[in-house]
Amino acid sequence: LGLESVKNIGILGLGKMGILHSGIVNSLPDARVKAICENQRLLVRLAKPLLPKTIALYTDYVKMMKNEQLDAVFVTTPIATHLPLVVDLARMDRDVSLFVEKPLAASGHQAEKACEVARELRGVHMVGFQKRFSPVFQRAKRLIDAGSLGDLMFFRASSFSSDVLREGASWRFGRGTGGVLLDLAPHLLDLLIWLFGDPSSVLAMKRRVYSTKVDDYIHAVMAFKSGLKGHMDACWSVRGYRLPELWIEVHAREGTITVTDDFVRLEKASGPAETYFKQSFNTSVSFLLADPEYTMEDEAFMRGMQDHALPESNFFEAARVCAVIDRIIESAEEHRY
Ligand SMILES: NC(=O)c1ccc[n+]([C@@H]2O[C@H](COP(=O)([O-])OP(=O)(O)OC[C@H]3O[C@@H](n4cnc5c(N)ncnc54)[C@H](O)[C@@H]3O)[C@@H](O)[C@H]2O)c1
Repeated sequence: LGLESVKNIGILGLGKMGILHSGIVNSLPDARVKAICENQRLLVRLAKPLLPKTIALYTDYVKMMKNEQLDAVFVTTPIATHLPLVVDLARMDRDVSLFVEKPLAASGHQAEKACEVARELRGVHMVGFQKRFSPVFQRAKRLIDAGSLGDLMFFRASSFSSDVLREGASWRFGRGTGGVLLDLAPHLLDLLIWLFGDPSSVLAMKRRVYSTKVDDYIHAVMAFKSGLKGHMDACWSVRGYRLPELWIEVHAREGTITVTDDFVRLEKASGPAETYFKQSFNTSVSFLLADPEYTMEDEAFMRGMQDHALPESNFFEAARVCAVIDRIIESAEEHRY
């Protein structure tokens, strides 16, 4: 690649996801991490000796934007900061491309504001819904779209983890800035919207278990225009999960499709069930950190920048997730089952 086609990347927030994306992005042939901004001085001090000298470190993103010529910024900060940062970054540089970790914002209204900003942007935009890049979920989507199982009747879906088994203290436990619905559920909601479209109605309930300010469990019943109905559960307080786990089971007139992070299974009215495990797909990526889909997602973002084409999981798509989150909260607060 010519030097001019190598994109200069800034990372905003050097926490778990900032570290992950820095590592992946810096391994890609068409990108290099040029600057990292983290507002916790201690973290910057600890990171400095470990990072290549070519990466400039900042504690103030305004300074980073002024000093560096960045083609894109990864916003990997807590959810409540996404909208104000997106607004500011776009105001400072309309040519910049923006990658925001999921969910796009803390509410549907905020997500709409982020979309308004995105419409004015000359760069591309994307939200970190990496599950869409998993070949397992992609196969499930192809099977559902092909319609070979006939009318879809109902689904049941869950997203469980053992992340919260006592009261926590970080931003994830702040009212309006965290909770299972903003933290864990967005991946499942994004997949349901991707597979079935926007729900036409939502009925939900929620409860706290260990947390005192946010919900640890949500349950939502949904109906879709196609006639499909179903329910989802999201809980980050279920014991026994080494990693968060997704499960979607779709029952159709002619059979059932089950998809998880690890496999997709097709059971037809006749004949043996067919199961495809993640290992049987080609998931080799140039650099593996966590799951291959994170690399595939970052590659898609870089491709979008090179081709000036919006990646599939852009702000407009991601705003649909925030809108459904609002409807779940509204319903759960209205009915209090
Ligand atoms: N896609 C996924 O699978 C996945 C997984 C975990 C988290 N996430 C998302 O990633 C985002 C970050 O989560 P995390 O687990 O990395 O959080 P984290 O708390 O580990 O890291 C966030 C970092 O941002 C820093 N920060 C906050 N405001 C800042 C500012 N104004 N300027 C510079 N730095 C700032 C914090 O000090 C912290 O170090 C959230 O939106 C979360 O929902 C996505």
